[in-house]
Amino acid sequence: MLNDHLRNILQNMPKAELHIHIEGSLEPELIFALAQRNGVSLPYPSVEALRAAYAFTDLQSFLDIYYAGASVLLTEQDFYDMTAAYLARAQADNVRHAEIFFDPQTHTARGVAFGTAIDGIWRACQDSPVSASVIMCFLRHLSEEEALATLDESLAYRDKFIGVGLDSSEVGHPPEKFARVFERARQLGLRLVAHAGEEGPPAYIESALDVLKVERIDHGVRALESPELVARLARDGMALTVCPLSNIKLRVFDVMGSHNLRALLDAGLVATVNSDDPAYFGGYMNANFLAAFEALPLDAGHARQLAHNSFAASFLDPERKRAFLAEVDAFFANPALAHS
Ligand code: ADE
Ligand code: ZN
Repeated sequence: MLNDHLRNILQNMPKAELHIHIEGSLEPELIFALAQRNGVSLPYPSVEALRAAYAFTDLQSFLDIYYAGASVLLTEQDFYDMTAAYLARAQADNVRHAEIFFDPQTHTARGVAFGTAIDGIWRACQDSPVSASVIMCFLRHLSEEEALATLDESLAYRDKFIGVGLDSSEVGHPPEKFARVFERARQLGLRLVAHAGEEGPPAYIESALDVLKVERIDHGVRALESPELVARLARDGMALTVCPLSNIKLRVFDVMGSHNLRALLDAGLVATVNSDDPAYFGGYMNANFLAAFEALPLDAGHARQLAHNSFAASFLDPERKRAFLAEVDAFFANPALAHS
């Protein structure tokens, strides 16, 4: 159970968010405001009707609505406003650093230029007091040729993102499908992540590591089905960006009480807590921490471990990483901070 002290710790501790799809931070109110600004018609009569459609049965049922929501994004200012809103919300949750995913193909397929999307997102990152960097994700339901063309197109904006990821429909689209594009990204010096083991089997986590050579696994909760894989992840200190509320909304677990976050930590894995698509799944960073700690046997020691892991697993340069980790240590060395 969550007492006030633990609640205050979770809310006030400094933290990093490593798994946030910026298009998944579009709140229904902003979707409607942008639709009106851009003259886009939506298949929902009201904010309430749109929110009521957020009853998902699996990943695909969510993705269908998520891509429809992103259709209101047309101008650089739209991408700026969406990202600025997310960063303000993250700051309120004491997120100090965010590594933000965006899906360029969701926009270029609608005739929105790559530069329109990334320029708006990047400018909002520059204007925020929260440290932020951008990771571009390839849509795995599309072909590797399309991903390669997107990587080519991205190179004109190379200074505005730090890495590449892989998202969208997992099952049936194994990591191997993107071997060449990740190899090319690696040669370009980009950081590498991929969604794996959200709905897909542990074998997808293994091929993300072996074939794509990723440096973090997004989700990865199904790793626990394979003791050999767990041993490997623990040995290598491979981070998992776990998203508790997402996993419940998309029925990866039935209820938060059966989520495996505590088991992942007990197995020695570098688990982190993240919001994934906060506008769709019922909450931002602190809501994810609170829901998980409410339902699972997690205490202040786990909170400290998760805060530590979030910065340790980030792509910050070593000096900035050390500074944030020192901030975590200072916070936990002084329990009075939890009440500030
Ligand atoms: N795109 C946005 N959210 C996603 C998720 N949880 N899994 C795969 N693709 C996504
Ligand atoms: Zn995700």
